[in-house]
Amino acid sequence: MNMINANPSVEAHYEALEAQWNSVNGSLQFERLVVPTGNSDSPFHRWFHLKEAFSRDLLPTMLKQLSFEGMPELKVLDCFAGGGTTLVSALELSSQVRVSATGIERNPFLHHVSSSKVMALQAGPALAQQLRRAYAKIERLYTSDTPFVADTPALSTFSNEAYFPPVLLTSLLRIKAAIEHCDVSTPTRDLLLTAAASCVESSSRLRRDGRALRYASERQPREPWVEFSIRVQQMIEDTESSLSTTGFASVILGDGRRPLQHIDESDKKDLVVFSPPYPNNIDYTEIYKTEAWYLGFYEDADQFRSQRFRTLRSHPSVRFSDEYDYESSGDAEAVHELLKPILDAVPEDRYATGRRQLIKGYADDMLTLFRHCRKIISSEGRLVYVVGNSAHGSGNGLFVIAADLIMARLAELANWHVEEISVARSLRRRVTNSHFLRESVVTLSPS
Ligand SMILES: C[S@@+](CC[C@H](N)C(=O)[O-])C[C@H]1O[C@@H](n2cnc3c(N)ncnc32)[C@H](O)[C@@H]1O
Repeated sequence: MNMINANPSVEAHYEALEAQWNSVNGSLQFERLVVPTGNSDSPFHRWFHLKEAFSRDLLPTMLKQLSFEGMPELKVLDCFAGGGTTLVSALELSSQVRVSATGIERNPFLHHVSSSKVMALQAGPALAQQLRRAYAKIERLYTSDTPFVADTPALSTFSNEAYFPPVLLTSLLRIKAAIEHCDVSTPTRDLLLTAAASCVESSSRLRRDGRALRYASERQPREPWVEFSIRVQQMIEDTESSLSTTGFASVILGDGRRPLQHIDESDKKDLVVFSPPYPNNIDYTEIYKTEAWYLGFYEDADQFRSQRFRTLRSHPSVRFSDEYDYESSGDAEAVHELLKPILDAVPEDRYATGRRQLIKGYADDMLTLFRHCRKIISSEGRLVYVVGNSAHGSGNGLFVIAADLIMARLAELANWHVEEISVARSLRRRVTNSHFLRESVVTLSPS
């Protein structure tokens, strides 16, 4: 297959941008850390596998690299907490340093997952006994003759028998109803609901392939009760063997683009670390929809749609308003200069409007984010972001959105200094040979 050359004007624009900063090959250090290496085998992290997560080892590695290791106290913020990797890793460090970690997450299901993990780590080993007792009660209810199940969520995916074989769906819904009927404390119930929700994908013929939820006809769905029991057992093991943490962590259900809406400006952070949704059309609301509907976070199509509107503008699943804060700010010209070559490269096809909106909306959100973060960073603090670039269009119209560089320039506009762009791995696939198709770890300091 012939490699397609990405739009040359855009590539030249990126070359010129990159030349201003210290860009290094970071593959040795970061290649395995920008993906969820180790997460599915590690206590607490393994409770829900988020394909888009970074590794549990990223935070400790960054602390070493930034020489933050010997600090007596560490305040960390992750604006896009996802499955809670940063927060769990931070709490795990609490024997070495007094940690206070805050996460912000917009997706109600992922917020539930990350909150469950940090709550359990802070509760310590005593929680294991509560989980054991609660599991026994639920098992009694589940295996009893009482005829109850939770209502089927009003998402058509659940009524498709090819996706969810009816017997297995009934079992999933009965597990949920048993948890809800059981007389257990709210934190324990939340953990059990996380365990139940983490069985939804494996009990179906749906598979998350990184981009979407797809029908996999060959897939053999697993029995929900067996899966649920395995997961609760893991939770019991992990909480039982956990060391009591002295650290503190919490996850806010809110807008990570605007941390100042949730955090006081005087509450300065030493390290802001995050991996935002990449501008590659992936819509987290879609990918984690079955779990969110199963847990009852959306009751109808309107609520589901509203959730999409609350997310970062990294996808065209909904038509966001065509308004951008930067256009009326003092940085309008600089942002215009940054985006113009990329906007000009968008092919005039039926996706043109959506693609231009994505580029402008993403940049607008990132500028807001960097401005907010700048106000809450301590004078010696750092901001580290992990982001992937993506190819858009096809044939002669192919161009790359280099989020690592676009974000670096926007960060400068928000008074950050770009310390290093470390290229973690190349994402070069069959399509194009652009060397900007890559995933990077970028470090900023307040300037
Ligand atoms: C790449 S994932 C982060 C994964 C995380 N680093 C981990 O290891 O689990 C990006 C996350 O951003 C969340 N998100 C999207 N829009 C958001 C917003 N406006 N505020 C906060 N989080 C948002 C998505 O739901 C998703 O969980």
